[in-house]
Amino acid sequence: MDRLLEVNDLHVSFNTYSGEVQAVRGVNLHLNEGETLAIVGESGSGKSVTTKALMGLLPKPHGFIKHGSIKFDNNDISKMKDKDLQKIRGKDIAMIFQDPMTSLNPTLKVGTQIMEGLLKHQKLSKAEAHKKAIELMDLVQIPNPEARMKQYPHQFSGGMRQRVVIAMALACNPRVLIADEPTTALDVTIQAQILDLMKDIQEKVNTSIIFITHDLGVVANIADRVAVMYAGKIVETGTVDEVFYNPKHPYTWGLLGSMPTLESDEEELFAIPGTPPDLIAPPKGDAFAARNRFALEIDFVEEPPMFKVSDTHYAATWLLHEDAPKVEPPASVKKRIDSMDHSEEATRS
Ligand SMILES: Nc1ncnc2c1ncn2[C@@H]1O[C@H](COP(=O)(O)OP(=O)(O)O)[C@@H](O)[C@H]1O
Ligand SMILES: [Mg+2]
Repeated sequence: MDRLLEVNDLHVSFNTYSGEVQAVRGVNLHLNEGETLAIVGESGSGKSVTTKALMGLLPKPHGFIKHGSIKFDNNDISKMKDKDLQKIRGKDIAMIFQDPMTSLNPTLKVGTQIMEGLLKHQKLSKAEAHKKAIELMDLVQIPNPEARMKQYPHQFSGGMRQRVVIAMALACNPRVLIADEPTTALDVTIQAQILDLMKDIQEKVNTSIIFITHDLGVVANIADRVAVMYAGKIVETGTVDEVFYNPKHPYTWGLLGSMPTLESDEEELFAIPGTPPDLIAPPKGDAFAARNRFALEIDFVEEPPMFKVSDTHYAATWLLHEDAPKVEPPASVKKRIDSMDHSEEATRS
């Protein structure tokens, strides 16, 4: 499988009045051609900042890449000039945000906005762009595309607007589509529809997708691989099966434990105690130690390396050290993993 995108030891900081916020602290990740990678983690863990760095969208000058490389097609885009980055952005790498209105112009007809991208990035006549725009609206399953082209964003529901934004993102045949919590603002039924749509699109046009979410619940259905982020680092990464059915990092256990399932009622939910650390003065050792009931002494002193679980599965927790006590996920988390197993089978049959 070809690596399309490769991020090595990425550090991103913000200069603020209170000091330097170390939002991303040494992220390594890669994206293969045609796959979907989900990045999950609580709010503030650095998911959006990571992808903004990939897109060259950090707010300058106070937001900056401090260290590391971002290779796209073997070019380091972290060192590119704005002009060259702009060419890549929207053409090779497109982005979808949580709030579709951030990408839409309320004063322009939806058709005009979809055509804009086509005219800008592809050598098409207006008539061809019009035809292609209708095809794209079909692809994202907007009924009545001809008539819908002539309408304004406010005439669309939230879910339909997000479909328009996806159509706009696909207008230039991007090789990578980054979706930053694209369904978080939508209600549950519409969320599921947009997720199905994204899966469908991936099968049809074969783009690679980075899907960002704080909700582990949506990951199993859409992703091939998962990267779990905490306090600016990736603490566990693996295939969906590895991370869901054989999680190794106590933070991943916490996320799984706090994930609602079909059978569980709210009361059974176990929230991760405490709050993420201050990224102006990140703690020594494992940043999750203070919230981790399985923390070892060394967790407060030395940062754990990524321990290898399999060729595709790694986790940064001292619990994987050969001298560490053997610790199993809490019973409540195990129960949840088992119940996911069953609901998966139930949906498959
Ligand atoms: N423009 C900014 N200035 C200062 N700090 C920021 C800025 N943007 C994000 N951060 C900080 O970076 C950290 C990571 O944020 P973010 O990537 O948005 O988290 P999330 O995982 O929720 O997407 C947070 O601590 C946030 O406060
Ligand atoms: Mg975010």
